[in-house]
Amino acid sequence: MNPVNPQAAANWLQKKSGLRPKLAIVLGSGFHHILTELRVAKKISYAQIPGFPKPTVSGHAGELYFGHLGGTPVLVLSGRAHYYEGHPMDRVTFAVRTLAAFGITDLLLTNATGGINKKFLAGDFMVLTDHINFMSANPLRGAAISGLLRFVDLTEAYDKNLRALLFKAGKISKQKLRRGIYLAVSGPSYETPAEIRAFATLGADTVGMSTVPEVIVARQCGLRVAAVSCITNLAAGIGKEKLSHAEVLATAERVKKSGAALIKNFVELYGKI
Ligand code: HPA
Repeated sequence: MNPVNPQAAANWLQKKSGLRPKLAIVLGSGFHHILTELRVAKKISYAQIPGFPKPTVSGHAGELYFGHLGGTPVLVLSGRAHYYEGHPMDRVTFAVRTLAAFGITDLLLTNATGGINKKFLAGDFMVLTDHINFMSANPLRGAAISGLLRFVDLTEAYDKNLRALLFKAGKISKQKLRRGIYLAVSGPSYETPAEIRAFATLGADTVGMSTVPEVIVARQCGLRVAAVSCITNLAAGIGKEKLSHAEVLATAERVKKSGAALIKNFVELYGKI
């Protein structure tokens, strides 16, 4: 159990800046370039924040920013804790509980994924419409939290209005966004071709190792959620190449400007609602 209460971490953060954003964005591979557009009010390393786990993966910085994108105040989390790093689920999702306690109401999650749907290409972006949790773990397992639902409805985990904003944002920057279902595995090995064929028959369009625990906890906390993936590679057996983290990072680097444009336009539209 994380010894720190998310409310204590939120109180700590509130003392660091007077900014009170309603929107938070978690940056995964392919989206960090948005930081070049952020007017930073305050940057805090995760290592300083009570209860935050330190990410251990290259490409995941571990910094929280208070700032503005255009005229809109935002909280940006650059880097996340993954289940495959060995963190228990309450640590993987601690940042989300902290955001909720802080007063965030809307959460945009971004990530890198492997494309299962044969129409998808490396470098495409996909808006999540739903997910399949194949992590063999649920972040809500454990003692019930007083004041929060024990059995959380996930019928519309991904908010329709925020999804519509993402598609609008894509239109503005002339990006064709895919839509589909993200299947989450624990990793950290990539999948076998047989697993990917199985996931395809289950209805998955992409596969990744994050996001789903954060979505589940965010929904328990009543946050509106949207999520978008950068398809960094074709999933095992879909393309001819073998999979590597280097390829994931190389694709993320190649399309970083598109990822940043998408987020920037999304936040601009969000600021007008
Ligand atoms: N599988 C799982 N996670 C991933 C992949 C993949 O192919 N690409 C990026 N994250």
